[in-house]
Amino acid sequence: MDFPSPRSNLVKLQTYKPNFGKSKTNNLIRLSANESALGASLDAIEALKSFSKDLNRYPPQVSDELVNAISKRYSIEKKKIILGNGSDELISILAQTFLNTNDEAIYTEFGFLQFPQAISIAGAKGVVANDVNFTANVDNILSKINKNTKMIFLANPNNPTGTFIPKKEMMRLHESIPSNILLVYDAAYSEYVVNNDYSDGSELAGENENVIMLRTFSKLHGLASLRLGWGYASEKIIDNLMKVRGPFSVNTAAIMAGIAALEDLEFQNKSVKHNLKWMSWFEKELQSLNLDFQYSITNFLLIRFPCNNKHNAQNAENFLASKGILVRGMKVYGLPNHLRVSIGNETQNLRFLEELKIFLEN
Ligand SMILES: Cc1ncc(COP(=O)(O)O)c(C=O)c1O
Repeated sequence: MDFPSPRSNLVKLQTYKPNFGKSKTNNLIRLSANESALGASLDAIEALKSFSKDLNRYPPQVSDELVNAISKRYSIEKKKIILGNGSDELISILAQTFLNTNDEAIYTEFGFLQFPQAISIAGAKGVVANDVNFTANVDNILSKINKNTKMIFLANPNNPTGTFIPKKEMMRLHESIPSNILLVYDAAYSEYVVNNDYSDGSELAGENENVIMLRTFSKLHGLASLRLGWGYASEKIIDNLMKVRGPFSVNTAAIMAGIAALEDLEFQNKSVKHNLKWMSWFEKELQSLNLDFQYSITNFLLIRFPCNNKHNAQNAENFLASKGILVRGMKVYGLPNHLRVSIGNETQNLRFLEELKIFLEN
């Protein structure tokens, strides 16, 4: 019997599979999804307590209150903000809005997996620009541009490498591309960054009609379960995206918690401090274990394991999982010898190291 076949460009596509483990217990230490180490802001949790009042009502199509709160927190223009059901939704609708079948979209070698996924789903051609030392490279991106290029997707800092392109290079990239190419600047981890030579892309997106900056509430703000992200771009881009975005894709709970989280600067500062402290701890500990890793400006680390003995990445992932510690295997990114580990809370970090040492000693 015939089966209703999906669009032909979906046939070879793999479903995105996070590593959340198989166990049903809540005791798992989950360092596999770059989530907030300290949970969520208590103010956001409090805000959700009054949520049940209007369950029968649709959320606003665009919450002015949340847009105002974002605009105030990040000193940016209200009319250039778009809200989304996680920044993942915005990545998808960007590809669907701007890519025709014959268009090409560039993404980087070890860039965020949702980029090639969204490009393929839109039915366009993804083109890979090679990294240099696990870092996106402006010249390699520029070398891939041709008359069919319509978009460039770039996470800065990048997931899963944790590396970044400095502000000057980002400016050079933008100056070197034609104005009909849309630069998607995904700054999901920007709030963790303290480096002076980094820019989150808000300036580029605020001043140019061919740049969109993407942000999320899933990382620093710790609201991953509510699915809330936002973009910052010219009104022309926003208007077109709103034609494609689900009319009510951002729910009321996310709006309420998002506003409260933005105002809780104490929680945000505490999270950044925690991250910096434990990132340097991880660096020292990994060095003393002779494990190679990428210096990261995010809340996670990409660690390289030996490939020619039993202490390889797959065995490490399995061993840690057997101890209830989840990390992210990187085969799907073409990095079979690496694991990505998110910074957790103190107890989780210490447990991870303890088990990692046992694995390497045996
Ligand atoms: C670079 C990057 N962009 C976007 C996202 C998705 O964020 P959200 O939870 O807002 O969909 C992630 C999540 O891991 C990410 O690493």
